[in-house]
Amino acid sequence: MRIYLDHNATTPPRPEVVDLMTRVLRDAWGNASSVHAFGQQAKAALDEARSRVAALIGADTTEVVLCGSGTESDNLAIRGAAEAQADTGRRHLITTAIEHEAVRATMAALGRRGFRITTVPVDDSGIVSVDAVRDALSPDTALVSVMHANNELGTLQPIAEIAALARDAGALMHTDAVQTAGRVPLDVRALGVDLLTLSAHKFYGPKGAGALFTRRGVRLAPTLTGGRQERGRRSGTEPVANYAGMGLAAELASATLTDEPARLAALRDRLEQSLLHALPDTLRNGAESPRVPNTTNLSFAGVESESLLIGLDLEGVAVSSGSACSSGTLEPSHVLRAMGCSHARALGSVRFSLGASTTDAALDHAIAAVTRVVSRLQGVASGGGR
Ligand SMILES: Cc1ncc(COP(=O)(O)O)c(C=O)c1O
Repeated sequence: MRIYLDHNATTPPRPEVVDLMTRVLRDAWGNASSVHAFGQQAKAALDEARSRVAALIGADTTEVVLCGSGTESDNLAIRGAAEAQADTGRRHLITTAIEHEAVRATMAALGRRGFRITTVPVDDSGIVSVDAVRDALSPDTALVSVMHANNELGTLQPIAEIAALARDAGALMHTDAVQTAGRVPLDVRALGVDLLTLSAHKFYGPKGAGALFTRRGVRLAPTLTGGRQERGRRSGTEPVANYAGMGLAAELASATLTDEPARLAALRDRLEQSLLHALPDTLRNGAESPRVPNTTNLSFAGVESESLLIGLDLEGVAVSSGSACSSGTLEPSHVLRAMGCSHARALGSVRFSLGASTTDAALDHAIAAVTRVVSRLQGVASGGGR
């Protein structure tokens, strides 16, 4: 039995999505910019994909820029908004200490090019401080970029509140909603954002497809220039099959949003409570609420997450560690560091992210495996295993 509890890393494409993509690759292979029938067939598939993505987030179809990934969408939002406003004197960008690398590295690159970057902190539960954003805003702020849900902790950020502050200051608001789009109900108008990033492979669509909601009237400098596809914002002949797959995945995800979040939250809470009770000194990282329903992040005392990851993989359970190996040493995640977690706690952190394949039986199996492997590793760490 193999149990996949790493849905925040990626999700398996739904069979219907694979079928549609195969059909589009085979039958609608034309260039969507061509005026002849081959091109128009591809264009029709593209239009359908765009309106399905728009429907998922409450946007107008003209406000959806299709692109290659969540990373590309983040880049287009941040670089595009920064470049478009640079000549107006707005050269200040606000971000947070817990963003995904796609945002962090992009902000850092713009910082090296002379943009002023303010990184606002989070509290010890992984929630961004609204007051810190308010204090950071200034007349030269071009853009505020705050993720909707953190990928490691699942914590949901106060986007609507921050977007209102940004609007009052004349700045644009971007949110990286890669971990929420297709997983919880999402409405760009209710959030009040100007730019929103999503990625198909996080909601049972294909890799190689993402989108950037760009509110009507928002100016963006393109990051890819060329044949002016996507209204000049993202040039390049469209990968129609990928986009069609994303569109269908978005539509199928919409249909799950009434029941699936509650089902996953119940399973996630059971996993969390079982492990917190079974394994002494286990701690949850991040606020219990508000957070997305499928994620929990736990630190096991005296255990390095990498060892646990490998031990669990041998038991058929796939999870993800909160630390990364760089230059041969384990580095605690920047998210846990930003929350003020101790080094040891951060190194012992593991992310469990549930999804469509997570059943009660799969969860029972996972709980038993984690309890077994952590107990064994703790025994070894304390000398009891030798
Ligand atoms: C919050 C967040 N933003 C951006 C990305 C990057 O998306 P993609 O893998 O589609 O480039 C990820 C992927 O893990 C993510 O979790």
